[in-house]
Amino acid sequence: MINYTERIPNNVDLGRDRVLQRALEHWQPAYLNWWFDMGPNESHSYKVYLRTAISVETDGWAQFDYVQMPEYRWGIFLQPRDEKRQVNFGTHKGDPAWQDVPGEYRSTLRRIIVTQGDTEPASVEQQRLLGASCPSMYDLRNIFQVNVEEGRHLWAMVYLLHRYFGRDGREEAEALLERRSGDTDNPRILGAFNEPTPDWLSFYMFTFFTDRDGKFQLCALAESGFDPLARTCRFMLTEEAHHMFVGESGVSRIIQRTCEVMKENKVEDPSDVRALGVIDLQTIQKYINFHYSVTLDLYGSDVSSNAANYYTSGLKGRFGETKIGDDHILTDAEYPVSEVINGKIVEKKVPALTALNERLRDDYIEEIEAGLGRWQRVIDQAGIPFRLTLPHKGFHRAIGNFAGHWISPDGEVLTEEAWKKHESEWMPSDADRTYVQSLMSGRVVELGKFANWIAPPLRGVNQKPLNFEYVRFN
Ligand SMILES: [Fe+2]
Ligand SMILES: [Fe+2]
Repeated sequence: MINYTERIPNNVDLGRDRVLQRALEHWQPAYLNWWFDMGPNESHSYKVYLRTAISVETDGWAQFDYVQMPEYRWGIFLQPRDEKRQVNFGTHKGDPAWQDVPGEYRSTLRRIIVTQGDTEPASVEQQRLLGASCPSMYDLRNIFQVNVEEGRHLWAMVYLLHRYFGRDGREEAEALLERRSGDTDNPRILGAFNEPTPDWLSFYMFTFFTDRDGKFQLCALAESGFDPLARTCRFMLTEEAHHMFVGESGVSRIIQRTCEVMKENKVEDPSDVRALGVIDLQTIQKYINFHYSVTLDLYGSDVSSNAANYYTSGLKGRFGETKIGDDHILTDAEYPVSEVINGKIVEKKVPALTALNERLRDDYIEEIEAGLGRWQRVIDQAGIPFRLTLPHKGFHRAIGNFAGHWISPDGEVLTEEAWKKHESEWMPSDADRTYVQSLMSGRVVELGKFANWIAPPLRGVNQKPLNFEYVRFN
């Protein structure tokens, strides 16, 4: 169980390490200042029906109650230690899992933790203005839940930095509160976390696509030989599942509403669909193209010696590492990656160790395809002849072997000129974004009411009805 009587709730026996406790108590007000500046806008006096972790066990870890968000009990929760756990891959395979940072991997590990940690406050910053245009009180509550949990994920990484990396760690923890999403002078580390999230369609796409990148990164780190990192990522994953649910169900409800309106009014043309105040399926497809391609870049270069080093050192594993039936060392294994040669996309085999980014990206794509299939079923059930597709892996990429090439959604290698000619068919244009945002000019917060462009969810939060007062404005 988690001790909530302490200033910083935790299950790591923080009270026994006075120096660490004081350092984190010093960081805490800086964190709260950041939350007041960069957390959800104008939300600080709201009372929100939120879940809070009360135990790290898989069953019943959450308790629901009204919380004034700045008083959310952000804390440090790790999965319990398995005394028999080993390093499960790389050259140290079979050694007992490390309870301390191995000296030779100190700076690499710190970089991995900082990069993960940086994404957490970034997404809160990206989403901070969306409360003003929420489609319902239910959705408003959900975005706030996502935001406080991303804040907690920051705490998770900051704990590791403070506990295991001394002064360097403390400085990195401060810098995590200083960078800002989209800032020209001091931006967040990764590209997708500097893109704006200007509307709710973008928000649901982000939580479906980009939070799922978070999931795959956390899964790879949950395999780490550095046991405290593995244990903290395992608990973070239980929170991540909710974020992806918000994204998938959000897009699904938008599609459902569009299909209902199309059928009722017997319209198919996008401009007729828009005239009825819902988001046409073509625009939804373009948002998919954008968010998918930007998120694919987060996995990094197809061939990467860093990825190989992380693996060989035992710091970052593969998705589902311990369930894979190979030698977990990969010296002789190969893996296919794509390349553009003479205007053609060709596949070639490279040492599997160097292709671990690509492999994680492929694991991710598989899950994305399944989610897209569930969205497609909503359209099929409405009897509307429209197919959602994922663009080719090389479409609109800025990192890796496809960067600098102009690939169509079908996987054709084009000239820049030819690609640009079609850009507005493939990517959300300014006009598309303006239209989507025009639907979201104010917030819908009457009990049980939903904006016209989105269907209500199947059920409410924690078995509460849809007209429950999920947010109390004071
Ligand atoms: Fe997160
Ligand atoms: Fe998340």
